[in-house]
Amino acid sequence: MSSMHPLPPAQLIDLRSDTVTQPTAAMLEAMCRAPLGDDGLDGDPTVRQLEEVSAARFHKAAGLFVVSGTMGNLVAVLAHARVPGEVLAEASSHLLNSERAAAGLTGMHYRSLPGTAGLISLDALAAALDTDAGARCPSALVSVENTHNAQGGTVAAPPALAALYALAAAQGVPVHTDGARLFNAAVALGLPLHQLAEHTDSLTVCLSKGLSAPVGSVLMGSADFIKRARNIRRMLGGTMRQAGVLAAAGLVALEHMIDRLADDHRRARALYRGLQAMDAAWCDPAEPQTNIVRVRVGASAADGQLWEQQLAQHGVLVRASGAGSLRLVTHRHIDDEAVAATLRVFEALRRIQH
Ligand SMILES: Cc1ncc(COP(=O)(O)O)c(C=O)c1O
Repeated sequence: MSSMHPLPPAQLIDLRSDTVTQPTAAMLEAMCRAPLGDDGLDGDPTVRQLEEVSAARFHKAAGLFVVSGTMGNLVAVLAHARVPGEVLAEASSHLLNSERAAAGLTGMHYRSLPGTAGLISLDALAAALDTDAGARCPSALVSVENTHNAQGGTVAAPPALAALYALAAAQGVPVHTDGARLFNAAVALGLPLHQLAEHTDSLTVCLSKGLSAPVGSVLMGSADFIKRARNIRRMLGGTMRQAGVLAAAGLVALEHMIDRLADDHRRARALYRGLQAMDAAWCDPAEPQTNIVRVRVGASAADGQLWEQQLAQHGVLVRASGAGSLRLVTHRHIDDEAVAATLRVFEALRRIQH
């Protein structure tokens, strides 16, 4: 942890992201025992197992282990690509806001569409889809983010996903799901994973967020799609060799770490309720559906940054995001006491500021 935080790491309450989660003892043990091979030659058996297990859980034909969610989405866009062509995504999506620079790599145009709770609105999609033979920039891909990071971990449920998919499919346009936190969506809805992958042609899921694996994401889709994706991953320099050491942790994540996400969701609601009791204007009207809490502490970006600094001085790490907003993410290292301590720090700072 950098020297800007006055407390030692063990005492810090790190709510910046669920990506800070450390591997479990079971993961470290599995990493030591994993059978390994060369994943660029005849394959790494543990990576292959992770790809097969993932694909089976999501009812897709094949999977591909990639370094990160960003790489999974980039490889997906490239594997679906047509140039000229347009990727349609909701305005506040991670793909548009944090990965947009990839447009330069993909040769595709990325177009922003309005949505509700992070899901592109059907009307906007219907108006935007253009697959006319003469279209100057035909629609090539629709991207869906589930759960939606910037909207506060909102969940898109199968009926809404089915409607969006039907609209795109009717025009022959594939759908990709950025499912960095799709496990959270499944737990929040109480549904098996595959029901959230039914209405999408491809999906990326991250093992290194709430599931606590140290590194890695899995891209899934049809056998042909993954064959193309494997080649593209190689071109991007993403072929890892004895990557089974990482995939082994991913297998433990898939097997043992999904159900406990419900604890993260419960603690996010506890944070929300505590903050709402302090100042209802801080909070979204609805409780968080998963593990992300948004807090509007002021009117300007400077307000958010000031709160971020002051909270850090009291050992609570959060991230300012957008004008006057903070983002708090619960995860395996945030227990009930950490929630209570966070609320105490917010209350103390609020009193000083009033
Ligand atoms: C919705 C979403 N998609 C993609 C990513 C990128 O994942 P990675 O950091 O593994 O590249 C993130 C990261 O937080 C995310 O929240």
